[in-house]
Amino acid sequence: MSARGNFSSKMGFILAAAGSAVGLGNIWGFPYEVGQGGGAAFVVVYLIFCFILCYPVMVTEIAIGRKTQKNAVGAFNDLGLKKWNFIGKLGIFSGVLILSFYNVIAGWAFGYIFEMVAGNFAIADQFGTYIKDVVKVGSYGLVFMGVTAYVVSKGVSGGIEKAARILMPTLIIMMLIVAGYAMTLPNAMDGLKFYLIPDFSKLTASVVYNAMGQAFFSLSLGMGALITYGSYVNKSDNIVASAALITLTDVGIALLAGLMIFPLIGFMSGGTMEGAARGPGLIFVTLPQIFGTIGGGLGIMTGTLFFVLLCFAALTSTVSLLEVPIAYVVDEWKIKRTRAAWMVALTIFIIGIPSLIGNGYSEFFSTAFTTYKDGGKDTDFLSFVAALANDTILPLGGFLISFFAAHIWKKHNLDEELAQGAPNYKGSFVQKYLNFAIGYFAPIVLAIVFILTVLFKFFGIQIL
Ligand code: TRP
Repeated sequence: MSARGNFSSKMGFILAAAGSAVGLGNIWGFPYEVGQGGGAAFVVVYLIFCFILCYPVMVTEIAIGRKTQKNAVGAFNDLGLKKWNFIGKLGIFSGVLILSFYNVIAGWAFGYIFEMVAGNFAIADQFGTYIKDVVKVGSYGLVFMGVTAYVVSKGVSGGIEKAARILMPTLIIMMLIVAGYAMTLPNAMDGLKFYLIPDFSKLTASVVYNAMGQAFFSLSLGMGALITYGSYVNKSDNIVASAALITLTDVGIALLAGLMIFPLIGFMSGGTMEGAARGPGLIFVTLPQIFGTIGGGLGIMTGTLFFVLLCFAALTSTVSLLEVPIAYVVDEWKIKRTRAAWMVALTIFIIGIPSLIGNGYSEFFSTAFTTYKDGGKDTDFLSFVAALANDTILPLGGFLISFFAAHIWKKHNLDEELAQGAPNYKGSFVQKYLNFAIGYFAPIVLAIVFILTVLFKFFGIQIL
């Protein structure tokens, strides 16, 4: 359609956007957040956020992108509302931050492929040592960033779409198999109870903030990633329906990851669920153990395949994260895509070095970040950046985007765009709900969550 490139089909866009959404956030992040957030109560809050709050924001981002066919900053200029393009700039900033630490974790996952191939299931007990070996995991990270840059340099339909098409379905099948196997193990039911039967006494303010941050992160919202992907969507596609499918896929895969991990923790803890709140190391410790219990060639095969697929899921996400700044510099600064991809990727890798070395290697970056959360508990740099980007800037971005769409760009313009490709949209319940959600519900809730999060996480002031 245009020289910028387009997704070659409706399915291509859905797959690429779902590929962006489905990633480490679902398989690594979601289970550990559930574990720390006390189990099913977190899941309930998370689901509510995803459907009633995040879905409308997703629709809005895609609509802004498709309307303008521009990157996250150019989109605001194109609507004639240049003053507001700081929203896009904030998005690019948070995208850079997110990719800088995300790639570190992707590097760990990438390295696990080789550990599995070697049958080294004992890596589960050596995870702390593994991530301290910064030359090794750093090299894995560098390779991962390189592959990301390569895919992005090939443009939208060439690289991004093709990869997502095969890998997503395979991942789902693989996860179903692992979850099925996990449930046959002794004490699996204790894990399921923890995961699925809510105990609302565990619902604290920080559980709610984290659920919000996790929902935004997992759905790739609040930083213009979907404005950017939306800019490659055809005018005949149905945005409202596509966004619903993307949300369902993403939530479904997160839930599936929980079905895999929690029965496993039930099994390994003998039913006490000890270790569920371990935090970011969770899947890196539990999963190799299960592949170890399978054992032998079959254990090696499933373990390897699992981490291969996890890396592909992470790759379709890193690609979308990198695509945001790249689309910007290609459109606005007229830099060649290939060159931009490699230069920006390298810069982001360098920005990620403190996150890489802050897991035991560098004392300073592992513990020096004390002002944030839980009354000054020591925090590593990676967790600090994640809290800053995911739990703080993404909700802020979501607030700004929904406020902008409803009150500056105006609802009727948003409706016009959404009606294209969706003949039944006008007058529907969905339209009414989206108008309410984007106009009032989302901006108000997101503004409140943003303010409370900043006060709580960074100043230790708890109001609610
Ligand atoms: N959603 C991805 C995940 O769950 C991460 C991600 C990719 C992302 N693109 C994004 C998060 C844009 C926020 C914004 O792993």
